[in-house]
Amino acid sequence: MDSRNPRGPLRAGEDIILVDPKGEEHLLTLTPGKPIGTHRGNILHDDIIGKPDGSRVWTARGAEYRVFRPTFNQYIMNLKRHAQIIYPKDIGPILLWADVFPGATVIEAGIGWGALTIKLLEAVGPTGHITSYEIREDFAESGKKTVSRFLGECSNLEVKLRDIYQGIEEKDVDRIVLDLPEPWRVVAHAGGALVPGGIILSYLPSTVQVKQMVDSVNEHGSFSEPEVFEVIHRPWHVKGLSVRPVQWMFSHSAFIITCRKIT
Ligand SMILES: C[S@@+](CC[C@H](N)C(=O)[O-])C[C@H]1O[C@@H](n2cnc3c(N)ncnc32)[C@H](O)[C@@H]1O
Repeated sequence: MDSRNPRGPLRAGEDIILVDPKGEEHLLTLTPGKPIGTHRGNILHDDIIGKPDGSRVWTARGAEYRVFRPTFNQYIMNLKRHAQIIYPKDIGPILLWADVFPGATVIEAGIGWGALTIKLLEAVGPTGHITSYEIREDFAESGKKTVSRFLGECSNLEVKLRDIYQGIEEKDVDRIVLDLPEPWRVVAHAGGALVPGGIILSYLPSTVQVKQMVDSVNEHGSFSEPEVFEVIHRPWHVKGLSVRPVQWMFSHSAFIITCRKIT
């Protein structure tokens, strides 16, 4: 994995987040000679290239913008996407509850837009390995692109154009992370692929799916009692004397279900 470089001046060809005076974020790639058109006047890419991360820049008409090297959250949340991703609030807990460790061998399905894949790769590090099963060719390609745009080329990521319901080819896998509609169809394959003590984690939006997954795991007999939870993220508004939770929040994404292989 060529890890991203979070230090040094902003370079031509890298992505930045431009934050406008209202706090709106825009993801763009620094391109020499190009202007950024805003309704408050233009900013030249050349005026940003070479500046430190976190700099202020001004439009020709004097409006102040800020430029940052994108965090993972900023990158993922500002990408133009055509598929549902796992949101950052769930990705952190997924890495912890699946206990993804440096050097781990992980199977993921499917890659989708690649949001989770980026964090899986960072968590396993250069000595670990991720295999992503993906049934759709377009998502296999777009997922790989999202990953390499953020992390560079990753030789320890293999994307397999395969239906994981048909089976898992790998053996001695440490972790299996499933973000697809019918993970119960993977339970028997996971039983054969995981090392003893290995973890299977699935991510499911509806309670009916959760029930089916838990029943399948229990019926299989080679897994510990599943643990099920959801993560609620409640942002707060803090401005002047207005200190309160925001009025509208994203209340539900999906449930996380984990269990371990027993022998
Ligand atoms: C919700 S998206 C995954 C999003 C991804 N976790 C992310 O954070 O960007 C679900 C993906 O699973 C793929 N998929 C669905 N069924 C599958 C199967 N049986 N085998 C492999 N991939 C499958 C879909 O094509 C889709 O790309």
